[in-house]
Amino acid sequence: MGSEAAAPASVAQGAGDAQSGMAHARSDDLIAQMTRSADAVTRELDRLIPAVTGPRGPVVEAMRYSALSGGKRLRPFLVLESAGLFGVPDAQALRVGSAVEMVHCYSLIHDDLPAMDDSDTRRGRPAVHKAFDEAIAILAGDALLTQAFEVLGSFETSRDASVRAALVVELAKASGAAGMVGGQMIDISPARETMGFDEIAELEALKTGELIRFSCVAGPILANAAEGERQALAAYAADLGLAFQVADDILDVTGTEEEVGKPVGQDDGLTTFVTLLGLEGARKKADELVESACAHLAPFGASADTLRAVARFVVERNQ
Ligand code: IPE
Ligand code: IPE
Ligand code: MG
Ligand code: MG
Ligand code: MG
Repeated sequence: MGSEAAAPASVAQGAGDAQSGMAHARSDDLIAQMTRSADAVTRELDRLIPAVTGPRGPVVEAMRYSALSGGKRLRPFLVLESAGLFGVPDAQALRVGSAVEMVHCYSLIHDDLPAMDDSDTRRGRPAVHKAFDEAIAILAGDALLTQAFEVLGSFETSRDASVRAALVVELAKASGAAGMVGGQMIDISPARETMGFDEIAELEALKTGELIRFSCVAGPILANAAEGERQALAAYAADLGLAFQVADDILDVTGTEEEVGKPVGQDDGLTTFVTLLGLEGARKKADELVESACAHLAPFGASADTLRAVARFVVERNQ
């Protein structure tokens, strides 16, 4: 599995500057934990998407190229951590984390297509439609999306059929027209040009926020936890998702392609959190969102310290 090393390297690189930018006692721990989790997710995805020979080969090769290509693996980490709060076994959480990463990878493959953002690089490598071709990229995205639901609906994910159904329904909502796809639609619509802060925040809550929300409520769903606990994690996720996108907008202006692994300056001419708030204003907003996200974790006490550290990582990252 030649690409396995990319995941931890990618996490570690992103956090190196986070540490120097703002020292946190737990930062080293967090990076080590994220690296371990990224490794485990890559192994699980490698197992779930075995290479095949014959005429179906290329689409599976493209799925593997995308899914085993590193990335921060933030969403699976949130699944593992939210599940850990309730003592859910890692094996189950890893399956759910792999499912949300499959949906995320599909969204990146399609986002990079010429008909969408026309981006040639992703995670420091040629985008899937460049490494293969556009038709294979479309099919690989389709197949990753559908396999995610196969994984969630399988007995190994939970013995409880109502838990499996809840996971399927929540990921479908988070991914579809009322979720990520809806956000992508607003992102490319002419109406976007004249949007103010609240409307851009709503766009991002769908485009980026919904998969992050799913990742954070996956733990309480797997554990059949109390509604209040699920709501606390959903509220944390809402602030975290927005903070994540504010940071993505900042990196589009301040980052280098080498660091972020994808083209920068893509948002030139678009209304983003940076154009709305200015660079310093956007940084301040991101910090406020982190504070607010962490406040929602109060019911979990110290057991949610890693989730607090993740929130800081999200705005301090350089990739
Ligand atoms: C990139 O997501 C797409 C957005 C939602 C802005 P990530 O920044 O999590 O990408 P990877 O998975 O680390 O490559
Ligand atoms: C797309 O947002 C996020 C997805 C739902 C794929 P962007 O277009 O801003 O993502 P990047 O910057 O290409 O990763
Ligand atoms: Mg886009
Ligand atoms: Mg893009
Ligand atoms: Mg972006």
